[in-house]
Amino acid sequence: MTVESVKPEAPAPELREPPRAGGGVPVLGHGWKLVRDPLAFMSRLRDHGDVVRLKLGPKTVYAVTTPELTGALALSNDFIIAGPLWESLEGLLGKEGVATANGPLHRRQRRTIQPAFRLDAIPAYGPIMEEEAHALTERWKPGETIDCTSESFRVAVRIAARCLLRGDYMDERAERLCVALATVFRGMYRRMVVPLGPLYKLPLPANREFNRALADLHLLVDEIVAERRASGQKPDDLLTALLEAKDENGDPIGEQEIHDQVVAILTPGSETVASTIMWLLHMLAEHPEHADKVRDEVDAVTGGRPVAFQDVRNLRHTNNVVVEAMRLRPAVWILTRRAVRDTELGGYRIPAGADIVYSPYAIQRDAKSYERNLEFDPDRWLPDRVKDIPKHAMSPFSTGNRKCPSDHFSMAQLTLITAALATRYRFEQVAGSDDGTRVGITLRPQDLLLRPVPR
Ligand code: HEM
Repeated sequence: MTVESVKPEAPAPELREPPRAGGGVPVLGHGWKLVRDPLAFMSRLRDHGDVVRLKLGPKTVYAVTTPELTGALALSNDFIIAGPLWESLEGLLGKEGVATANGPLHRRQRRTIQPAFRLDAIPAYGPIMEEEAHALTERWKPGETIDCTSESFRVAVRIAARCLLRGDYMDERAERLCVALATVFRGMYRRMVVPLGPLYKLPLPANREFNRALADLHLLVDEIVAERRASGQKPDDLLTALLEAKDENGDPIGEQEIHDQVVAILTPGSETVASTIMWLLHMLAEHPEHADKVRDEVDAVTGGRPVAFQDVRNLRHTNNVVVEAMRLRPAVWILTRRAVRDTELGGYRIPAGADIVYSPYAIQRDAKSYERNLEFDPDRWLPDRVKDIPKHAMSPFSTGNRKCPSDHFSMAQLTLITAALATRYRFEQVAGSDDGTRVGITLRPQDLLLRPVPR
């Protein structure tokens, strides 16, 4: 026995009850504000405290408002993925995918998928990313109107599906996946924020369209898995990794888990990237001076030839443009966790079972963390300035054990696509375009319509 071990333990510091955020109303609490203008509501919460209590109907939810404490939350084992957001996702997309699993199952699933996303795996996807980035600009005719929502979805799904689930047949499948995913995401958000259970079972056109799209998404995934099996091929890709994965007893994982895993990777993978591409297109249209700077950098690096995957690492400014767009317009604007035991955050008491919420949007736009916080300034990511930004104040891919596996994969394609777009065209919004922010599972422009003007 050491001398230290017999010392009396220091008394645990007194934990405080988080203050209640102002502005709640009887019965609905803060719910009506959250539904009416969620971004403004989340962005003002820090004025009430580092951790605040919200009343959503009868329920108390805890909101974390500082970069430091969102980092502590994401890195702590006292919190897991659970809560209403995740439960409704599981109901629609499956219960055995990596995005909603916890504990040992989650760790095993991450080990299976991680190699496909490792930094050294990304160059193998280079030719596909390059082809898709150029095909995107070649599809457009000068002067025509581009529907940025469908075009961005299309390229995001195609890149994820072609890179991670390889195979020629993916071209046709990627098109079907685009249509199914776009409809499913729209309907999913509605079902999450307005949970009117039985109403969504009525045979209304919108419900029928949603159910058809969801069924087609699951059917497509079954087809992809069945065809790969029938082909007898085992390319070095994510699908092979899933088909060969073993559970903790060394047995092959079940069919349902394979299915749910493919869904759990394709769905977050396409909506997030597509939304970010829409905001990048918007930025190129609204900030022609930044678009010109990207074009100049690409020209300096490529000497005028079409931009290639291997150029990405030299496109420092273009990369900073993508990061700055993601700061102001983070695809994932809200995240939730649930406390698995009585615990604390920043000296505040958090009871077991509590749902916690935080907003990367609010954190990344906070004037306490960023000078001229609402200004689009890609140079704030230059090495001599980046050190002034507080830790965890920029975390669009999250941190800790739930961190997005696809950060390198996403940044490579987004940088390449931005470079390809800016060198080929200038963009103008056309009449009828609506660039207001649409709040759904992700943030994206309402209905961005652009005219490409050749450079
Ligand atoms: C998880 C953001 C692209 C697959 C996450 C999380 C964030 C995120 C914030 C963590 C959620 C949490 O902490 O609760 C993004 C952004 C993307 C992007 C901003 C692009 C701009 C992708 C792509 C894929 C992907 C392209 C796959 C092809 C996943 C998966 C998870 C995840 C499987 C769950 C990880 C886990 O729970 O262990 N993503 N993501 N993401 N993302 Fe992404």
